[in-house]
Amino acid sequence: MQTRFLIACPFLLLASACSNESVDDYDPARDYFTFANTDAFVTGHLSLDLDVDFEREVLRGYAMLSMRRLDAEASEVILDTRDLSVSSVALVAGGRSSETGFRSGEPHPVLGTPLHVDVPAGAGDAFDLVIEYRTSPESTALQWLPPELTAGRKHPMVFSQSQAVHARSWIPLQDTPAVRMTYEATVRTPETLLAVMSADNDPLAPRTGEYRFEMPQPIPSYLLAIAVGNFYFAPLGEDTGVYTEPELLDASVYEFADTQAMLELAEAMYGPYEWGRYDLLVLPPSFPYGGMENPRLSFITPSLLAGDRSLVSVVAHELAHSWSGNLVTNATWRDGWLNEGMTSYIESRLMEVIYDTARVDEERVLMYRELLLDFDSVPERMQALAPRLDDANPDDFQGTIHYNKGQLFLVYLEEAFGREAFDAFLEAYFEEFAWGTVTTEQFLDFLDARLLSREGAAVTRAQAEAWTYGPGLPDDAPIPSSENLDNAAAMARAFAEDSVALGEIPVGAWSPQAAIHFINSLPAELSRDKLAALDAGWSLSETHNAEIARTWFIQVATRRYTDAYESLEAHLNRYGRGRLIGPVYAALAENGQDAALAREMFRRARGAYHPIVAAWIGGMIGDDAG
Ligand code: BES
Ligand code: ZN
Repeated sequence: MQTRFLIACPFLLLASACSNESVDDYDPARDYFTFANTDAFVTGHLSLDLDVDFEREVLRGYAMLSMRRLDAEASEVILDTRDLSVSSVALVAGGRSSETGFRSGEPHPVLGTPLHVDVPAGAGDAFDLVIEYRTSPESTALQWLPPELTAGRKHPMVFSQSQAVHARSWIPLQDTPAVRMTYEATVRTPETLLAVMSADNDPLAPRTGEYRFEMPQPIPSYLLAIAVGNFYFAPLGEDTGVYTEPELLDASVYEFADTQAMLELAEAMYGPYEWGRYDLLVLPPSFPYGGMENPRLSFITPSLLAGDRSLVSVVAHELAHSWSGNLVTNATWRDGWLNEGMTSYIESRLMEVIYDTARVDEERVLMYRELLLDFDSVPERMQALAPRLDDANPDDFQGTIHYNKGQLFLVYLEEAFGREAFDAFLEAYFEEFAWGTVTTEQFLDFLDARLLSREGAAVTRAQAEAWTYGPGLPDDAPIPSSENLDNAAAMARAFAEDSVALGEIPVGAWSPQAAIHFINSLPAELSRDKLAALDAGWSLSETHNAEIARTWFIQVATRRYTDAYESLEAHLNRYGRGRLIGPVYAALAENGQDAALAREMFRRARGAYHPIVAAWIGGMIGDDAG
């Protein structure tokens, strides 16, 4: 059974796509998750013209792909699609426009359906394809929310989630991180609503029902994003702000007040922010992730609105992707650790300044614990930062390795070469590979050239490769530690042994991370009375801190503390972010007695979940309708 976070889900779905490649053919630089023939044609610019139809739950209109031919012999462009209805394709070349032939290939459960478009040699080396199409209500990228699932409960909403391979379910395109394109869009919506995109949003745009966007920086397809809803805007700083429903605007402005400072800090450390504005879009609880780094406009879960700014590391993370991910992109999803591990590392560097080193130590201890837990369940060959994804068992690939082991590798390098040298290395890396993609091998070569091959270097290439290709952690891996968390763990033991009373534990002075560690450190055989006292004393079942609630309800389910099951179900209905609910369902399903109950609760709650989350949890707890 899978207990990992939703972050793993796209990989989980994807890996099966590659299962029939023979071992010897494996090419680490190839993207196995696209049908597009990118060695023959590449897209340079995308122009969208879309109507947003809430009644039918479809986007309808045109996508124009401006393409270049790389292979003079090639006579068809292959695009990625999923659940799209294509009604016509026009070829525009040399000042002429004409209809051209197209056909759909065999649908694949993970990759979608290839769309083959005829492009005769006479079309020349540069041409446009104008594709008339519409999406289906089943689009895996789009969630269409009825008013009841929004904060205001009066207006519908739709938002996209393109990473990793979902862009193809709302736009026919070359859906691979290997291709970057600029884009522009015209979007028509009901007049009362506002459309925003991963582009040049105008914070004060009048609500006309027709919105124009431009994205002059070239981006990979997984960063294409759109949302339409009753959004309003408030500034956070000079170049930063937040969009959300009016009901959440004040709370968002309070919670994310540090965003401008984070932006300036990141620029000072890693070079200029290349994207213009940086805004946040706070979505309803069904947004499946903590955040998504859509350029210029990170999409954010409302579960960060704890009221005390304690969960803003997610914003630091999405902002950090402006460098690691958006400016320099993983070449394929197998190199995902370059996006997520590096971003987790930068996130921690930003948190160190916004909070302090004690906070970073705490977060690293928690992430280390999660990593070690995952090593227990992930097969060795999938524990590499850059595993072979060709014949991966979908159940074996998981995101915590990319995030947590990736971060730890960079901490290791920082410690080995010193902060100054390592910061300079990262800044040079972003400059060197800006607007491009990087494989794990290119990263290692660059690391080698800049640091490993220095005289007296503290790390060898072989040591670095043990991280990228080896299982588990190398013997000399850093072990995060935190005095605050050691103290919290000691308190948990003392509380269990009756040597300290609950009232004597200064939880009010603790960070949420310390409270989380306390809960995780309670011995397995803790009495029900103690659980009840803890729940009552710390109001755990009612906490508005989503991470504490997650930790608590995992324990409630694992220990079968049934007194709190009603609150546990309320938690499963309050949040839709995979990380917050998936492990709670899994703990219920795995405690030996509540598998059926987990499925019942899931059936009651799933209507509000995002399709990606619903499919993930359904698969995990054996509800195949999921
Ligand atoms: N890019 C990811 C979300 C993602 C990963 C979507 C893989 C689809 C496939 C985003 O930046 C992210 O990492 N979100 C985390 C934030 C956390 C680690 C601070 C999340 O949602 O929990
Ligand atoms: Zn990320």
